[in-house]
Amino acid sequence: MNKFPERLSAELEKRSILGNRRALSFPDDLIDFASNDYLGLAKNLTLRKQIEVESQIKMDYSLGATGSRLLTGNTEFSEELEQALAQHYRAESALIFNSGYMANLGLLSTVVKREDTLIYDVNCHASIREGIQLSRANNYGFKHNDLNDLRKKLRKGQGQKYVVVESVYSMEGDIAPLKSMVSLCNEENALLIVDEAHATGIYGEKGEGLCVQEGLEQSIFARVYTFGKAIGHHGAIVAGSRKLKDYLINFSKSFIYTTALPYHSLVCIKEAVQFAAKSDELRKKLGKNIRLYCELVGGGNLSPIQTVLSKGNEETKKLAEKVRSKGFSIFPILHPTVPKGSERLRICLHAFNTSDQIKELLTLISR
Ligand SMILES: Cc1ncc(COP(=O)(O)O)c(C=O)c1O
Repeated sequence: MNKFPERLSAELEKRSILGNRRALSFPDDLIDFASNDYLGLAKNLTLRKQIEVESQIKMDYSLGATGSRLLTGNTEFSEELEQALAQHYRAESALIFNSGYMANLGLLSTVVKREDTLIYDVNCHASIREGIQLSRANNYGFKHNDLNDLRKKLRKGQGQKYVVVESVYSMEGDIAPLKSMVSLCNEENALLIVDEAHATGIYGEKGEGLCVQEGLEQSIFARVYTFGKAIGHHGAIVAGSRKLKDYLINFSKSFIYTTALPYHSLVCIKEAVQFAAKSDELRKKLGKNIRLYCELVGGGNLSPIQTVLSKGNEETKKLAEKVRSKGFSIFPILHPTVPKGSERLRICLHAFNTSDQIKELLTLISR
């Protein structure tokens, strides 16, 4: 048998004891209240057909990109797609990364320097935290969505100051006060970076996200859009100035030292973003479901991500199992993904969920 260090085995064992050992499972065929496919595009047959037709147009396409964008992996198609995406998200330029994780890592670790200060919302995604660690900049977390604490931390900053937030928080589902954050960053001479992963495709007239919906795009240094959530595919862009794109092409390791996305993936992104832009009906249905959920619980978030707080890994797992046994796909979010004591069920609403399904789910949980 291949050797495996004792210390690592012990770590796995500890997870079993604490009840938070992760394991892979297959997708179920329960009613979907778990996936990030908020508009149902990942399974949309019309979109799938469009992608099939579009990817056949170019008969001589290569199955793989065959190299990094800086070597053999760049094509006219990728550059045209970036221009179209920049236009769609109202930015001067866009640079494609292979995933949102890579985009956050590549952006933060490259642009923010050791002598700079990075201030981040404490509930930011792991990819943001990892990017911050790699940058080795001075960094301070500010209390979730708390403008006063953000101001305090901004005043401690040295060098160029950056603030990183998510527009919709992946685990809480609540929304950042972007307008106030832009004003605060202007006052304090800081540059704002917004991860729009869970807003992409959902907010804005054509799914351009919350920054565009609020008319803030010109005031934000960099925006990250991901295509693996409501867009139903994979990949991401960093949107910002031409100089930012040029800088990332020159220095961002997660852009430079990796094989570019294959042609077929680029076609999927192009078609799915266009499809999402025209999917007003789906956005309306999703909006209706979000409003219904909020009405029923007398609160909730104005986003597709809702949470039911529970306590402790074991109790949360048990609650999720009960709900699943009644036919609803739901996952428990456990420590260490979230802080101890804030374990929860994460409920994702979709355009395709019916009112009855939402009502049934909530009755079940409240019982
Ligand atoms: C806020 C946020 N940013 C970035 C990512 C990473 O995006 P991707 O799944 O495309 O790597 C995620 C995914 O979970 C996320 O929730």
